[in-house]
Amino acid sequence: YDSGLARTPYMGWNSYFAGGAASEEKVLGVADHLVSSGLAKAGYDIVWIDGGWNASPPRDGKGSLVPDPARFPSGFTELVDTLHAKGLKAGIYTDAGAWDGKNCAAGSGGGYYEADARQFAGWKFDAVKVDFLCGIAQNMDPAVAFTQFSAAVRKAGRKMILNLCNPVTDEWSVPHRWDQTAYVAYTYGPRVGDSWRTSTDVAFGTPYEGIWRDVLRNMDRNLYRPGAQGPRHYNDPDYLIPMRKTERGTYELDEEESTSQLVMWSVMASPLIIGSDPRTLPPSMIETLKNPEIIAVDQDPLAIQGVRVAGSNNVDVYSKVLSGRGERAVAVLNRNDRPAEFTVDLADTGLQGSVAVRDLRARADRGTATGTYTVTVPAHGTAFLKLRGETAVPGTDLGGETSASP
Ligand code: GLA
Repeated sequence: YDSGLARTPYMGWNSYFAGGAASEEKVLGVADHLVSSGLAKAGYDIVWIDGGWNASPPRDGKGSLVPDPARFPSGFTELVDTLHAKGLKAGIYTDAGAWDGKNCAAGSGGGYYEADARQFAGWKFDAVKVDFLCGIAQNMDPAVAFTQFSAAVRKAGRKMILNLCNPVTDEWSVPHRWDQTAYVAYTYGPRVGDSWRTSTDVAFGTPYEGIWRDVLRNMDRNLYRPGAQGPRHYNDPDYLIPMRKTERGTYELDEEESTSQLVMWSVMASPLIIGSDPRTLPPSMIETLKNPEIIAVDQDPLAIQGVRVAGSNNVDVYSKVLSGRGERAVAVLNRNDRPAEFTVDLADTGLQGSVAVRDLRARADRGTATGTYTVTVPAHGTAFLKLRGETAVPGTDLGGETSASP
């Protein structure tokens, strides 16, 4: 499957983590903010309505899905047109299983794949997320169901990004042998969708204070099969959730942790979908989300997923080959609860000799380094560097340029 709309990882906002059920009012409010804050211009241009948008029961007498008239009084034809008129794209949600009144708010199972895909296309949606909550309850095989749903979307007559959601809900019971669990979407994902979730939700409940741990779990699982990913096909570690507030008024992820998530998602060339309500974010966080040098790493045309190349004492180094010759994006992630100093051995990134260093967070050149480069990283923080070398470590190549395929 290839929608043609995600040559590089897609970007936008999704309603699921943004507090309460989605409504037309909220969707339009966020849409206006994406535009006025410059987030849309920076690339975050999909407004994605997650589960719970439908009336209950979800279908009318003719079997068509119906948005909840109380929350979406104008209907989707008008809402999607309005989003398009603002220069945005629109996303929608369904489930591979059949609606059963308890496990999913709406589902396309029970014979509705083609009709629903046509309806989403008719409403002019640009992206569809297909979840598996009712799929699990009905013991469906995700590979089979998602393949059939994908065929229906292909036939629907409109290009739509297809995101395959999480086929497992119980995160901690899944053994840490990811190749032997249900998280095998990387085996069929590239054929079936533009992206496929590689783990469970990055946050449970709202609000919840354990999310840094969830972020690391989703990141580590997402790093498991970098080879499944390439341009137009992405491992999906779930949404960014910068600086959501808990009931006590503290942040679930503080600004440094939120920035780490953005950096790590970019080094993995992941879809960048903001899950928090952007209207609640401080200006500094908005600026970070818009940082063009971080986004350029995520959006690099090679769409290579970065990999862990070194690390010790809970500090890990990840390197991503970029399309510019001799260029690498390097993230140094400090998992410790206290600051750490770390010396990167530049050879671990495949570069030797004189290497030009740029700090992507500060957007500042840091001169050249030979052999090693030392950074100090805050607790739960990242250093994010772009390296450019002229000489490759013997046995490796500089990469970039020649291998860039549009
Ligand atoms: C699952 C998915 C989430 C979200 C919810 C909606 O948990 O993994 O991303 O779509 O369902 O209920």
